[in-house]
Amino acid sequence: MASLPSGTTTTPEPLYGGSSTGRRISVRDLALAKARGEKWPMITAYDALTARVFDEAGIPVLLVGDSAAMVVYGYDSTIPVTVDELIPLVGGVVRGSSRAMVVADLPFGSYQASPAQALETASRFMKETGAHAVKLEGGARVIPQVELLVSAGVPVIGHLGLTPQSVHAFGGYRVQGRGEDGARLLQDAKALQSAGAFAVVLEVVPADLAAQVTEVLNIPTIGIGAGAATDAQVIVWQDMAGLTHGPTAKFVKKYADLRSVLTDAAQAWSADVTNGTYPAPEHTYT
Ligand code: KIV
Repeated sequence: MASLPSGTTTTPEPLYGGSSTGRRISVRDLALAKARGEKWPMITAYDALTARVFDEAGIPVLLVGDSAAMVVYGYDSTIPVTVDELIPLVGGVVRGSSRAMVVADLPFGSYQASPAQALETASRFMKETGAHAVKLEGGARVIPQVELLVSAGVPVIGHLGLTPQSVHAFGGYRVQGRGEDGARLLQDAKALQSAGAFAVVLEVVPADLAAQVTEVLNIPTIGIGAGAATDAQVIVWQDMAGLTHGPTAKFVKKYADLRSVLTDAAQAWSADVTNGTYPAPEHTYT
């Protein structure tokens, strides 16, 4: 368990399911949760309505992931999505929520060129959407970017392992960090922490490696396909709720079957329209 940030005491308010304190969850709350050994959920959101549902469900952190590329825009990877396409989604999630911290994902090509480019992109998300933090992918190669963002006051989440923006370099969506790569991933995680990142996502890595990183770091680890030992878990909401089309990754557990629910609703409404039973008198203005 990590030590408490200096000058702080633990708060009895749990991150998940805590009552609304009238303020947003902060990076300090997440640091305190790590110190208490408290696990927490982070879920993706891409619009105001679902953001409100997840916020009211008590989820402390909402990620507007570049997974929007697939689940909102229908691209076949995260690579094509642009800052201009993500900005309206992040704005909707911020306006739809009141307690959760909202994290904006920096898309491919919007931060890799230089620290200055990263700051320019992060500034757009913070100023134009009200996002509270940003996330970017990579280890050693993005440390200068993380340092500049943090020094400018932008809270940053790092992202290691199967970073989908590098899918072509990996040769597909494969487990990362096996064998000798594990030591490099651990070094990258330490470097992100030293650069000032306040959390690190670990995606599709062996559970033992994620447990080791979680033990070594003072900042929270957020797992997706990284086993049960991480401090937090993140999931794409459409995967968790059974809306995603086609096969899903091994780490996905389906908590609902929204695809069937929506299909049934659409077919029932269509049948009522075609047989003339909708709209009924109670749905009609006089
Ligand atoms: O884009 C995304 O949704 C993500 C999470 C799956 C970590 O990066």
